Amino acid sequence: MDNREVTEELIKALEVYEELGFTFLPLKRDRIFNLMQSRPVYAVAESREGTISEPDHIMSRDNARALQELREELGECTRCKLHKERKNIVYGEGSSDARLMFIGEGPGRDEDMQARPFVGEAGKLLTRLIEKMGMKRENVYIANIVKCRPPYNRDPEENEIAACKPFVERQIEIIKPKVIMSLGRVSAQSILGMKMPISRMRGNFFSFHDIALMPTFHPAYLLRNPKDKWLVWDDAQKVLEKLKD
Ligand code: URA
Repeated sequence: MDNREVTEELIKALEVYEELGFTFLPLKRDRIFNLMQSRPVYAVAESREGTISEPDHIMSRDNARALQELREELGECTRCKLHKERKNIVYGEGSSDARLMFIGEGPGRDEDMQARPFVGEAGKLLTRLIEKMGMKRENVYIANIVKCRPPYNRDPEENEIAACKPFVERQIEIIKPKVIMSLGRVSAQSILGMKMPISRMRGNFFSFHDIALMPTFHPAYLLRNPKDKWLVWDDAQKVLEKLKD
């Protein structure tokens, strides 16, 4: 890297922190250096997701077909009572060949109306995080634990999670991402089957079927607690490091 590139990277890093609401930089010198050096990771991630080489292309088509077949199996699902009040099933979207997958809790009002995950205010924040990580939303995969909106945005119940879980598990199995970021307590606890508080889980990698899983706070929590955005950014840095492995 020459001086100009270093300066450009530093400016980008500072813009991320500004966007996250920082008025000072809570990083040690070596972390700043890592930030500046992380650009090539994004390039690697983009090149796998953007320009598709022949083997990936074949794999991608198979994955896309498998995801489509799973969607057909889900059908007009009535496996739990959430179907009664939903407008649309929110199956998930993104690259069937994604290296990074985000798993939220369940659709909210906007998602229920548009049949797309994370398109409301929390979704805008998630999209910004993905972009600040140097990726495009369409190159990751975004899904939820439950595919139908819980009324009044209540937490999904155990029986509703149990009815939907085979589908999110199959989505993970088909896509086989390198890393999963689970968003919020319900997501992490349901996938991992443990009751640990999200504040203790976040920031640490867990393993789900040999896939690295990083629990982090839900973007809706960050809308209410913007001072904690830096913790999610810290988790995102660890995820970017893992994608580099
Ligand atoms: N919250 C979620 O957990 N998922 C969405 O899709 C939207 C908001």
